[in-house]
Amino acid sequence: MTKLQAAANRYGQDVSAGIDAEPDGVIALAPGLAAIWELAAPLLRVRDNDAHTLYALGLASALLDAHPEADAAVVLPAIMLHDIGWSQVPPSEVLQAIAPGGGRADLVLLHEKEGARLAAGILAERGYDDAKIPAILGIIDGHDSRREALSIEDAIVKDADKTWRLSPHGINTVMDWFGLDRGQALRLCSQRVHGHLFTEEAKAMARALSALESVTLWPQRQRLLQTPGDDGGESAGDDSVAGV
Ligand SMILES: [Fe+2]
Ligand SMILES: [Fe+2]
Repeated sequence: MTKLQAAANRYGQDVSAGIDAEPDGVIALAPGLAAIWELAAPLLRVRDNDAHTLYALGLASALLDAHPEADAAVVLPAIMLHDIGWSQVPPSEVLQAIAPGGGRADLVLLHEKEGARLAAGILAERGYDDAKIPAILGIIDGHDSRREALSIEDAIVKDADKTWRLSPHGINTVMDWFGLDRGQALRLCSQRVHGHLFTEEAKAMARALSALESVTLWPQRQRLLQTPGDDGGESAGDDSVAGV
């Protein structure tokens, strides 16, 4: 569970006056995208795709900062809408489509095609810039099955989508998709992400995320969670890993 409020103030003073309102790196969802989200979210309920989409969009925003040549007006709606086509696949079959050791290529292609179709409707309903729509739909149609990137925009969408798997939310989600412990999920996601990314920035992000998750699983780190010390007195079990 991500902590949203402090459990204590050990310093005892209010430091909030020294905190900027909008420091570099902290991002917000632009109003135009928030309006698209309202139409997309109901189509993303399956398989935690709604939260996946928001985190992937955050990673895409970070990658856009590193690639000013990429068109954010293509990348951001494409990542927001890339998985809405799963809404057209029976929920019981969604995980079959992507299961390790199996996979249903037909369902992967179906969610891409249906995603592009539904995205065209949503973008038209929101009056999105017509000039951008073909590139957005082209990215959605093929975002999983196409091995190569058509453009820097396509590369960023693919990289953000995959890199999410190694985020804390991604690991948590994949654990419950397949009944894996955290170590198994980390190894599965690492093997499916590293070596499959296009941009240097995503490669570095993904390695950092794998490294942090690896440390979480180290017995040295887990022991610190069992015995609250002076480093902040984390409550035992706060983010401890059962069975490690
Ligand atoms: Fe997808
Ligand atoms: Fe995705």
